[in-house]
Amino acid sequence: MTLFIASELVSKPEHKWSQTEEAMLATLALSDEYQQVPEKSPLITFGQALFFDKGLSINGQVACASCHQPALFFTDGEPLATNGLLPTPRHTPSVALLNDADFLFWDGRKDSLWAQALEPLESLLEHGASRTFYLHYIKRNYPETYQAVFADEVSLAIADELPAQASPVAYQDWQTNWQQMTDRQQQAVNQVFSNLGKALAAYQNSIKLKPSKFDLYVHSLKGDSDTKILDEHEINGLKLFISEKTQCTHCHNGAALTNHTFQATAVPKSNNDLGRINAINQLDNDIFNCYGQFSNKDNCFHLDYLKREGIDLIKAFKVPTLRNIAKTTPYMHKGQFAQLNQVLDYYNKANRPIQEHSEIVPLGLYPYQLKQLEAFLLTLSSDYANDDSWFTPLDLP
Ligand code: HEC
Ligand code: HEC
Repeated sequence: MTLFIASELVSKPEHKWSQTEEAMLATLALSDEYQQVPEKSPLITFGQALFFDKGLSINGQVACASCHQPALFFTDGEPLATNGLLPTPRHTPSVALLNDADFLFWDGRKDSLWAQALEPLESLLEHGASRTFYLHYIKRNYPETYQAVFADEVSLAIADELPAQASPVAYQDWQTNWQQMTDRQQQAVNQVFSNLGKALAAYQNSIKLKPSKFDLYVHSLKGDSDTKILDEHEINGLKLFISEKTQCTHCHNGAALTNHTFQATAVPKSNNDLGRINAINQLDNDIFNCYGQFSNKDNCFHLDYLKREGIDLIKAFKVPTLRNIAKTTPYMHKGQFAQLNQVLDYYNKANRPIQEHSEIVPLGLYPYQLKQLEAFLLTLSSDYANDDSWFTPLDLP
């Protein structure tokens, strides 16, 4: 009898949440969308092959996975990304959990995951090759897979007519080559190029997670399972996280712990990076945007209602996910903070340069509360729901 009471005491929740709090917690827990690994379609398989293929670069050394490393939750551990030559201007964010993001990159200058993938392929600081290079490469290395996935009879067939390198961006002679191509040729090259983006997007969208300690805790609140999943320290941190005092969930909400918007937080050392405000023109002029002929979306609400001006766009950067935050050091768009406690110290003081817009207010928390907050953030770690076979290079015909 005594034993029975004792075990009942042990499994009692240490913390009573109000109904509103519990409802909030439920919205932060992983939903099916982020947990259920889809069937591995030919499109996804092709995307995986491309993601890990170093041949998809000018020097044969750079794959998407060079910077977006699965072991680091698809980041690279560096403050600023590099392909081994010069650093890029920004820090590598994760590519997971972006299914609901309307805009990609720290400034959101691309409006779909597939269109995003095209930029690193042509960036001299990343993969560094050109659109025609990729067409030739696909024709040499994946002709059957490309054909089977996209049923595109015509595009690869014109390879022999095309220069080795031609692109509307990058080097001057590549641009000249591009301008000398016919509309039909440019169209075919853009078709293949956009299809590569679609395969890469399908792969990235299929990366799913197992529940973290935090998710298990939220599930346990409903049932009678083990409620000792989080300790008191972590629970107090969670309480702070969802509190009005910290306002963390104003921006870091939903199962991905981001609302996918762009916010100015006046993080130091962002130099002359103006963030969101500079992305608007690029979005409008992108032939691969939602309005363009390569998009197969029925509606483009996110572009129809795009916010184009306002002081709040200046130095605004995308709200990143906080999932697996333990694996994604350093933090912020330039990797300004090496440690999680430095991020929290920043929020706590939130020194704002004079005349710079910022959406955050100093928290004024005690050191022990910052430790609690950090302890909570560390409960957001979890493994992939995908098995290891999803994270290796593939040899396809
Ligand atoms: C040299 C390192 C590097 C390589 C190679 C690279 N990336 Fe990135 N990636 C970055 C950096 C840095 C950013 C952020 C740049 C910015 O916001 O201006 C980024 C951003 C992204 C984003 C946006 C994430 C978000 O939260 O909006 C996605 C998706 C992505 N990369 C996918 C890819 C794919 C697919 C490839 C391969 C075709 C690739 N990357 C190759 C460094 C790299
Ligand atoms: C007004 C919106 C907003 C609020 C409120 C907010 N954040 Fe953020 N958070 C952001 C943005 C935007 C970034 C990226 C800033 C950058 O890179 O310049 C960020 C970055 C972070 C990062 C670094 C993530 C990474 O991968 O680089 C952590 C950790 C973080 N926030 C935690 C918190 C916590 C904890 C709170 C509450 C104390 C909080 N945030 C409140 C918008 C917000």
